[in-house]
Amino acid sequence: MTRADAEQRAKEYLAGARLLHSLSVAKLAARFGAALGEDEDALYIAGALHDIAKQKPLSEQRALAERWCAEEGLPLPNNSAIYHAPASAWIVRHELNLADARIARAVARHAAGGRDMTRFEECVYAADYLDPARPFAAQAAVWPLLAVDFDEALLAMCRQTIQCVMEKRGILDPASPDYHNALVERLGKSGRTIDNLQITI
Ligand SMILES: [Fe+2]
Ligand SMILES: [Fe+2]
Repeated sequence: MTRADAEQRAKEYLAGARLLHSLSVAKLAARFGAALGEDEDALYIAGALHDIAKQKPLSEQRALAERWCAEEGLPLPNNSAIYHAPASAWIVRHELNLADARIARAVARHAAGGRDMTRFEECVYAADYLDPARPFAAQAAVWPLLAVDFDEALLAMCRQTIQCVMEKRGILDPASPDYHNALVERLGKSGRTIDNLQITI
């Protein structure tokens, strides 16, 4: 699949603000990939497809998420706001027949994060959070962290996402605190490699 193919598929499944968001996330994920030495084209495709199930009714999102989770041996997310992530991964794998496992897994984990996130997956997670086409106030605190330490920026994104769910008295998917704890552990390791990204919008 090429970048243009991914854009075309996104246009078949999404419209309006969701489509603009997806294409914007694709661009930003590819920029993170370029800065971090990850596969830029694959990240563009993952970004374009990450929310591809989001326009489907919630019942359908849940059914697709159940299939993905059964296939991967994972529990169904306990928060319906996250169903679209594994549901989108199922579409990527089985409707779009995309064989690249990195892309489907990054799509599956873009909303909640997870304990053993790869840098590739984190490029999609961060691009979804920081998307300039979908601005919100908390993004401003994260952008400066990118230039200092990408892992610190990820921790700030994860923490704010968790806080946002808690402030709405929502149900936290266990993958999110798992990711938070993994990032804290990562940041506490001595001698770790620090990635700083010179990216601005
Ligand atoms: Fe999403
Ligand atoms: Fe998104």
